[in-house]
Amino acid sequence: MCGIIGFTGTAEAAPVVLEGLKKLEYRGYDSAGVAVVGKNGLGMVKASGKIENLCKKVEECGGVSGTTGIGHTRWATHGAPTDTNAHPHMSEDGRFAIVHNGIIENFAELREELIAKGCHFKSETDTEVIVHLLSLYYKGDFKRALMKTVARLEGSYAIGAVCSECPESIFVTKIFNPMIIGVGAGENFFASDVTALVSHTKNVIYLEDGEIAELTPEEIKFFNAAGKPIEKKISRVAWDTEAAEKGGYEHFMLKEIMEQPHALKSAIEPRIKNKKSVLSELNLSEEQLKGINHIIITACGSAYYAGCAGKYTIEKLTRIPVTVELASELRYSSPIVDEHTLLIVLSQSGETLDTICAMRELKDRGVHTVAIVNVVGSTIAKLADSVIYTYAGPEIAVATTKGYTTQVAVLYLFAVYAAEKTGRITSEEAEKLTAEILSIPSDIQRAIDLNSHIAELAEKYHDNSSLFFIGRNVDYAVALEGSLKMKEISYLHSEAYAAGELKHGTIALISEGRLVIAIACYEELFDKMMSNIKEVKARGAEVLGVAAEDMKKIFSEADDVILVPKTHPLFSVPSEIVPLQILAYYVAKANGCDIDKPRNLAKSVTVE
Ligand code: M6R
Repeated sequence: MCGIIGFTGTAEAAPVVLEGLKKLEYRGYDSAGVAVVGKNGLGMVKASGKIENLCKKVEECGGVSGTTGIGHTRWATHGAPTDTNAHPHMSEDGRFAIVHNGIIENFAELREELIAKGCHFKSETDTEVIVHLLSLYYKGDFKRALMKTVARLEGSYAIGAVCSECPESIFVTKIFNPMIIGVGAGENFFASDVTALVSHTKNVIYLEDGEIAELTPEEIKFFNAAGKPIEKKISRVAWDTEAAEKGGYEHFMLKEIMEQPHALKSAIEPRIKNKKSVLSELNLSEEQLKGINHIIITACGSAYYAGCAGKYTIEKLTRIPVTVELASELRYSSPIVDEHTLLIVLSQSGETLDTICAMRELKDRGVHTVAIVNVVGSTIAKLADSVIYTYAGPEIAVATTKGYTTQVAVLYLFAVYAAEKTGRITSEEAEKLTAEILSIPSDIQRAIDLNSHIAELAEKYHDNSSLFFIGRNVDYAVALEGSLKMKEISYLHSEAYAAGELKHGTIALISEGRLVIAIACYEELFDKMMSNIKEVKARGAEVLGVAAEDMKKIFSEADDVILVPKTHPLFSVPSEIVPLQILAYYVAKANGCDIDKPRNLAKSVTVE
């Protein structure tokens, strides 16, 4: 996720801004930039890659001088991670520079309008429209120009803007993105998170949606959305820098689990237009989509399990057969494909070598490839015929959490979109299903609210040496991911089984005290799961049941129960997996494991 920082004071701004950008590095980024207002107007330097590249470039150009500056670490969403696409963005007349976090959803319309008015765009970003609007509306009153600009924007933003005609002022505003003002003595700051501020000041003011602030070295003025002056209270930050990087959480994994409602919103909401799922990124005509008679989903690890989960929904809604293949197997299996096959590739990093190779193999055979990826501009994104970004924000913990749930959500959107386009569901059905998808972020929040109950369960069960996850239908897919999460971070031996398969061999391993996590959320097969629970209980297993909140019958058989939010059966996976992510986290913590960097694992597997 991008990071922003700004400073106005009496010292040189560039070193303060660059140091602040380094504090924001933990958020993940692929380019960075700085703009400073000095005696000779605005100076700006931008560089792709690490902040060291930017520092080097600043040094090479003899520095950017001035006491008011803004900076940005960009994590690409619209346009590749290049120098040009990096922020800040400057107006053509060189008067304004801005940094922006968030997504401007109506940027395409605004861009067209501005081009018609004679503006020339340099970057591919959604952000650049903001600076052109600012320049267009500026008639000597900075605040007024900003107010007129934001009135045109749809989407989410935290904006920091400077103007060469007001060399001591920074204007900031926000909608749905954090903007924190740091209150200093003879100097003031803003940033997207407190991490970049705590080394300068622990006195902060949180801007609310629509509010505007003008920062100068000596004072900070606040205004409401109508431009009227308002008073704001100072809060005191208790965190040190390290705690601030993790948002106060002990581990990135926990932070990323907690971020899921927001991540899921980012993945889902921009793709809902007029109450329908719209995947405009899909470069397939309705005719081509109607011609698809086989979908192959390929990926590795958790992304593969996201595919296993998505298969159920895609098949039920589209009635197109879906095969989910491990990328490392698919590439050597000489798959039977033709022009009626569609390949969906899932990858958080977009750099997993096996996935890339499997994708190349099928692409060479003329198959249309759709990549569902998180990292913009990654190899898989570049290779694909169609790219759908998950917009989960950077994932730092090796164990994926929000990466997985956003992949599943995009598969849901694909299922509804493809089903409607191919005439398998009506427009009304599509609207109803889309409304269900829209409620996933709040369902996930309710699952997160189970945190303390799950922490207690982890305390009880953490010293089991070996455990089993069982489930049927889509719950089996959830079991696969729940089990992987558990083993990769807690190092407990864990296996996932389709509950109906237990009797065909594995039940021999069930003995006194063995922990079985039985996922019984899929209502249609609830009674069958109850029978499976009875079978393992009869052999001495301890059972932790996971069921939807209205399936209280499970209490009669299970030793402990996690009741998850009830959702539409086609879209249940995100709320089912979140409690299992939390369980794995607390079990690993109780076992003293290195949660964010488990042994032998890498975040991105770029070797075969
Ligand atoms: O970046 P990708 O989604 O392509 O990564 C695939 C797997 O390596 C990844 O999901 C892995 O299984 C995770 N460590 C699971 O948490």
